[in-house]
Amino acid sequence: MNGLEIKEKQTKYCLQSWSKQRGLNPIPIEKADGIYMWDFDGNRYSDMSAQLVNLNIGHNCVPVQEAIKKQVDKYCYLSPAYGSEPRAELSEMLIDLLPDNFGKIFYTNAGADANENAIKIAKMYTGRQKVFSRYRSYHGSSFGAGNLTGEPRRYPLEPGITGFVKFFDPYVYREPIEFESEEAAASYYLAKLEEQINYENPYNIACIVMETITGSNGVIIPPKGYLPGVRKLCDKYGIVMICDEVMAGFGRTGKMFAFENFDVKPDLVSFAKGVTSGYVQLGGVAVSTEIAEFFDDNQLSCGLTYSGHPLACAAGVATLNFYKENNILENVNKSGKVLADELEKLKSNHPCVGDVRYIGLFSSIELVKDKTTKEALVPYGKDPDGVMGKIVGMLKSKGFMTYSHENMIFVSPPLIITPEQVKEEMTKVDEILSEVDKTL
Ligand SMILES: Cc1ncc(COP(=O)(O)O)c(C=O)c1O
Repeated sequence: MNGLEIKEKQTKYCLQSWSKQRGLNPIPIEKADGIYMWDFDGNRYSDMSAQLVNLNIGHNCVPVQEAIKKQVDKYCYLSPAYGSEPRAELSEMLIDLLPDNFGKIFYTNAGADANENAIKIAKMYTGRQKVFSRYRSYHGSSFGAGNLTGEPRRYPLEPGITGFVKFFDPYVYREPIEFESEEAAASYYLAKLEEQINYENPYNIACIVMETITGSNGVIIPPKGYLPGVRKLCDKYGIVMICDEVMAGFGRTGKMFAFENFDVKPDLVSFAKGVTSGYVQLGGVAVSTEIAEFFDDNQLSCGLTYSGHPLACAAGVATLNFYKENNILENVNKSGKVLADELEKLKSNHPCVGDVRYIGLFSSIELVKDKTTKEALVPYGKDPDGVMGKIVGMLKSKGFMTYSHENMIFVSPPLIITPEQVKEEMTKVDEILSEVDKTL
């Protein structure tokens, strides 16, 4: 097929996620390599969101492709009840990467079902019913994960699952209170959370689920002391602490797992995306030894036909090896430093930039109409005039591919990006934001 045929057939026969279907214009991609993609007319695009913040190793990473091919030649599928080398190997590798309180892995197909199974495990382990999660969060689009989600992608599932309770995020930039320090902010949010825990009956709360660093809702980084404080509340009331590392995990923040930035050990970790960089889909729940041992004599009522799929696990083993052999964390910190400097310049130079938030190669630019009032460029949950779509389109016309959510633009490229590439790409953002400034 040529590019036009691909586009016509896809828009005719395929429903695209999270979109009104009329007028969709997907770019047909002919080839991709590293951080770049090319369309059928030879135009080059930079993948500045690593697709859906999952393609950490970039496009066409040969060792991972080879590992998948090798596994294809051995066998493609074995049910979870059989012993499979890539499954065994990946599990050991993951446990070795995780803190010392982790014992076993339960595999899923992706991030949403990782979260669904994490909740189930917490409910079975505690015998409790309630589930806490935050408003500015995205945990997946399936029924349970969609209910766990706090932001508007939850709305089609309402009225929602009984016992799923939402609490407020430590979103310091949008808090009307001026905190003296990060610690003061953390104490404020923790006190509010404990108050809510008490109102909801602490002894019926199975788990608190948080994106360690909120991803698609704006790279909201918790203030110092917040996550250890949540850990303390979980310990005090016997609640299972679940960190959703689907987006933030596997090197994105400069550490293998985002919670390592905050000196905290969760009980369960849901993961997906970066574990295979999307080369084959895979997700899972890392389970603490204590919780895993509970299932030595109690049935684990979780199951998926494709749990620990051999091709996916082979891709996982090769991806984790690639991270290690290529010192990926070092590169994230080096290129991330350049990204941070560029983002700070944007904030100083552009009236439309209210805030920039970044850690490693995980960042967002929050656009406002007015820096002082912090009025968002588009209201929460709405963008009737398609303003954000137009800005993303302007970036696309410069070959800078990313996405927006609410009033934010995301810059989260593959973790292999070089500092020079970061600099080159961020000049495009600078140019487009100058155009946005003129509209204020
Ligand atoms: C933090 C987080 N959790 C869960 C998910 C859902 O993952 P999946 O789309 O693989 O089901 C996502 C997807 O973007 C995510 O960002």
